[in-house]
Amino acid sequence: MENVLKLVAKRQEDLDRHPLFEWMNSAETPVPDPLLIMPAMATFSMGFRDVNKWVFRYPKAANDLERGINIHSFEDQTHSRLFLEDWKLLGLNEKLDWKASDTLWWLFLSEANEVARGHGVYFLSMAIADTKDPLLRFAQSEMMEALGSVFFKHASKIAIGFTERTGIELPYMGPFHLALESGHMDCEDLFVEQKLDGERLAQALKLADTIYEIFSDQLDMWMIYAEKYISTGNPPRPGLRPMINRAAAGLPGLRPGTGGVVHASQEPLQKLLTERRKRSEAHPFYSWLENRGDRITALQALRRFIPMWAMDVMGYRDLNRYAIRYPAPSSDLHRTVNAWVDDLSTHNTLFLDDWKQLGLDEILGWNSSDTLEFCYLDPQTDVHRRNIVRFTELAAGNEDPLSRLWLMHALETSGEPFFRHTKALADEVEANTDLRLDYLGDRHEIAHQPSVSPLALEFKDRPMDAAGREIAAEMIETVFDAADEQLEISLDVALSNKFGIR
Ligand SMILES: [Fe+2]
Ligand SMILES: [Fe+2]
Repeated sequence: MENVLKLVAKRQEDLDRHPLFEWMNSAETPVPDPLLIMPAMATFSMGFRDVNKWVFRYPKAANDLERGINIHSFEDQTHSRLFLEDWKLLGLNEKLDWKASDTLWWLFLSEANEVARGHGVYFLSMAIADTKDPLLRFAQSEMMEALGSVFFKHASKIAIGFTERTGIELPYMGPFHLALESGHMDCEDLFVEQKLDGERLAQALKLADTIYEIFSDQLDMWMIYAEKYISTGNPPRPGLRPMINRAAAGLPGLRPGTGGVVHASQEPLQKLLTERRKRSEAHPFYSWLENRGDRITALQALRRFIPMWAMDVMGYRDLNRYAIRYPAPSSDLHRTVNAWVDDLSTHNTLFLDDWKQLGLDEILGWNSSDTLEFCYLDPQTDVHRRNIVRFTELAAGNEDPLSRLWLMHALETSGEPFFRHTKALADEVEANTDLRLDYLGDRHEIAHQPSVSPLALEFKDRPMDAAGREIAAEMIETVFDAADEQLEISLDVALSNKFGIR
């Protein structure tokens, strides 16, 4: 473990030389400008709670090492609330002037935040990378703590300067948080005595260094953010993106070969999928959508539950792009996965259009910190994000393209009853108003890039062994269990009118 700690100390020094800190500490940089990089930190800082809750923590800690890691995770999961406090105290809501859709755009579509999205998915898959081995987990967490404290050492100096000038204390950027970020895991003593050698040591060093690379990339991104958006005084704003040609019919979406040959070894999976889809169709949420009475219009019904799906739909692009896609495809099945991923990754732009069409920005009236709070801290959104962690792990933990195709197939199939019902509502809305709802109206193919779409997706004709089948079956069950759980929440928020729709 000594070797790991040596690497951590070395990387701490390396990170400390990052040009971001030079800019932060420069006499020419006005206070509190260096702290206004918070939007560039949001994906990481808000998402870090999920990592502590559902990735690092051992649900059934079996020994002192696992318990040590767990104890640390409880403290760290609380820091995203402090982050939002600072956001408000620094006046970022006013400075950015982002509505809910702008905040979603920043998190999930803006180019300047892309690096953070890729890292975000990596963080969610860390329990796959460390194979749940507490020593490997410690190596990663210790590196994170050490590098985090480098940043907070500099940030807190600026925060203190800000407090001296304004009397406002900043709990996240200031000394309060720095005191919690000692640069070490509180359980360090337990781990220092542990022996790591051979393969396991090499793996620990590799994982720890991956964290260093990520942090260093993050700081690059924050520096670019500062130059582009803070120094100029023009915060990021969604520009006009190329218009989707909605008049063109669009290519049909990729759907796994219906009518194609299903290999005997895959028949049980097909049967399970059909059965789960049928059960999902009968969910009480869908019955409510069909029989909600005349008191609630189709438009009101959609407005009552659509905000609940923001993280899933917007984050679906990242799940596909960073957990499912193959960076170096080497077989026809790899390429099938990637072609499908490329189509699915485009859909969230349509969702954001529908969000605006539904008038959710005005109805909800959320500023950027309200939106972040809903997305990352609402107890019901928690369920949605915990399921995203599960899907990410299923993808990252299974390299085999056949299993990934089944995961995608299950996800898409669980969406079919959903879109069948939202389409009925969207059709009604479009017939009675000037609104256009392409996402909820299930016209996703209009967003596809024409050049990449082959017409059919064949993978069910391949033989699959028992182990592969077991994995795919688990994927199907997990996906549909998650859907059931989330439909339950949609029913609850619709009936209780959580979002106050009139
Ligand atoms: Fe923290
Ligand atoms: Fe920490």
